[in-house]
This record gives sequence, C-alpha cells and structure tokens, in this order.
Amino acid sequence: MKSLEQRIEDHIEKLAQFTETPTHGVTRVVYTEHDTLAKEYIKNQMHELGLKIAEDEIGNIFGTWEGVDRDLSQVWTGSHLDAPTHGGKYDGVVGVFGALEAIRLLQLENYKPKHDIVLVIFASEEPTRFGVGCLGSRALTGMINEEDLEAWIDKDHLSLKEVLVQNGCDPKKVLTEQLAPEKIKNFIELHVEQGAVLETEHKEIGIVDVIAAPTDIQLIIYGEQRHAGSTPMSIRKDPMPAAAEVVLLVEHLTKNNVSETSVGTVGKAVITPGASNVIPERIEMTIDIRDIDAEKKKRIISELSKGVTTIMAKRELSYQFTIKSDDVPSRLNKEVVQLLKESCDEVGCSAKVMASGAYHDALIMSRQVPANMIFVPSQNGISHAPTEFTATAEIVTGIKVLARTIEKLSQ
Ligand code: GLV
Ligand code: MN
Ligand code: MN
Repeated sequence: MKSLEQRIEDHIEKLAQFTETPTHGVTRVVYTEHDTLAKEYIKNQMHELGLKIAEDEIGNIFGTWEGVDRDLSQVWTGSHLDAPTHGGKYDGVVGVFGALEAIRLLQLENYKPKHDIVLVIFASEEPTRFGVGCLGSRALTGMINEEDLEAWIDKDHLSLKEVLVQNGCDPKKVLTEQLAPEKIKNFIELHVEQGAVLETEHKEIGIVDVIAAPTDIQLIIYGEQRHAGSTPMSIRKDPMPAAAEVVLLVEHLTKNNVSETSVGTVGKAVITPGASNVIPERIEMTIDIRDIDAEKKKRIISELSKGVTTIMAKRELSYQFTIKSDDVPSRLNKEVVQLLKESCDEVGCSAKVMASGAYHDALIMSRQVPANMIFVPSQNGISHAPTEFTATAEIVTGIKVLARTIEKLSQ
C-alpha cells in the first residue's frame, strides 16, 4: 500500500492535470469539463473508501461515512476543487483530498465513528465564473435567491440559471435544497494558508479564529467611443482616467486609512472595445474589499460609493455601481479552536491561532453551523498563482490534525 506522502503527491499531480492552462498554473472553472473530471476523480476515491455519494442541484458533492448511530448529527469536512484563473495546485484541493486521507487514516485505525462523517466538495468557491464566490455553501445556507440566479452571469452572458439548466440541473431546487443546521454538528475545513504568517513565525499549523469577509463590487463606467487622434482632450468623455481615479481611491481607503486590517483589489477590468487608437466606450471593473472588522468595512464601502459618485459627477460620466455580494466577517467556534489545540498537541506539532485574510466556504457555513479551519503553510505566502506551494510533510501534519479532530467530534 502506498504511503500517505505518496498518496498526497499523486492527488496533487492528478488533480493539477485537470486544467485549461496546462503550461501556466491551474485554471478550473465551475461546470466545465475540467471541473467535472476533478470531481469524478475524487468521487472514485470516495467509492474506494466506501463512502455513500450524493450530489445536489448546484453541484455540491457529499460522501458519507456512516456512523454507528445514524440519528445523530453529522460531522462535515471538505473544501472546493475549482481553481481561479492561473491559480495553484493546492488551494481547495488540499482540503478535499486531505479529508479523504484523514478518513482513510481513521479507517486504517479501525475507528468506528458514532456520528456520520461527511466529506463535502463545495461547488464554485472561486468567483471566477459568476463574480460571486462560495456558490455551493451559499445555496446550502439559503443565501441565493431567484434574482441572483438570473443576475449572476458569466463571460458568455449566460446566467447561473441557464448554466444549471444546460447541466441538467433544476434551478428551482437550488432555492430550496438547504441544509438543516441541527443535523450538522461541525464543519472543519483544511486549507493552505495563502499568506506568510505560519512561514514567518515557523509554525506548522494555523488554527483560524476569524475569517475576513469580502464585499464584491462591479463598477461599469460609460464613456463616448471616439477617435483617439482627432478628439480634443477638452470634449472627451473618457472612462479610463475615471477608472484610474477609482483604483487610487480603493488603494487610499484600504491602505490603513480607515482600518488596519482592510485590503482592496481591482483584479479585473475589461475595456471595450479595447484598441490603442479608440477612446473606450465602457470599462467594467471588479472591486474586492475585505476586512475582519465589519463596521470599518462598511465605512470603507460607504466612502468608496460617495467617492465614485463625486468622480463621475466631476467627469460627467454615467456609471453603474453594483454590490454583488457583501459578506460579514465571522468568528469561528471557540470550543473547537480549543479542541484543535489539543489535536496539535497529540500530533506533536506547533500551532498558531490566527485570522484568515482569504475567504472560504467555512465563512458561509459558520453562519449556521459551528465551523472551523486548519491552515498549513504556503511557501512565501503565495497563492492564487502558479507558484503556490506547500510541502508534502506540511500537508501530512494538517491531515493528521484533521483526523484527530474529526475523530474527537464524531465519537
Ligand atoms: C478565495 O478564493 C478568496 O478569494 O479569498
Ligand atoms: Mn482561492
Ligand atoms: Mn480556497
């Protein structure tokens, strides 16, 4: 039988093959062929472990290791398999194959859980396709409504509803198929840190106590498309300098002017028509603002909204400022933070209680059920990039801590 180390390396390399961009990182967009192939790979592995597999209409997958007492609430663990554009091999997948290997470890120890242990793969944690992340956990917790199904559209102008129908799923069920919070005892997500705290402080495990939450905004600025050479500067309605002012405003507001823990990113801007000798007709950009302090984040969003109004009025441009999702930061379950410290002692590894700057399905799940997270280090703090890396030995430690924890929670 293969060693745990060998299995981990196999999972990483096999899953990394399911990408649209084989020579430049992992790009795995929800409901595409590569996303389906990655899910098939893990479903086969779940079968081997004897897990009972179910899927819901949004594309969440559940693999249940049945406990001795089926009436008891369930212990959930898992993460996501989709990856952002040119992302890495570790984000999300470590929490999926990590859960699989933690279950395998417990089975090899002849452990018999009293509570069901459920390996969950959430659909579309990344916002790559529809501009909103955590679609699977949002659906499960009743955070998607009928308008969202039509308003969230992809680059080909297909709505989430249309894509679900294309995939043979029933969008109506997405609105009703929700989890029963009393049936879930805990959710534990293993993930790579995606920052440099653990590496800098030489700690092997991060025990997350708070998750920063994003507000995702779409800003469309409308200009007047004209010739770049013959249109005098005085009569132009050019959305580009306005967009530049907005980018600087985002940086100003989030760079320690309102909050010490805020961050702001304009990660995507589409210029139409996008030619060197044409004043653009429109610019569509994303703004991602995050903080662990809900009140300060609100202030930043309010100042940003006022600032955008002022910039556009001054430049006489029309625009659309749409808040696509607005999440609230979450404190994770305190008792399980304690339990995780005990698991780290049992495994014999160092640990640090810390915040997560990235968001996760655990953020959404924590609104309804006790949720917690285990971090393993990310080399140089890099993630959402092809250079993302975590050493196998560090993942082994994470899996062992996860195994000890789901054992305690399920007995
Ligand atoms: C999740 O991928 C995030 O953007 O934090
Ligand atoms: Mn990610
Ligand atoms: Mn992730």
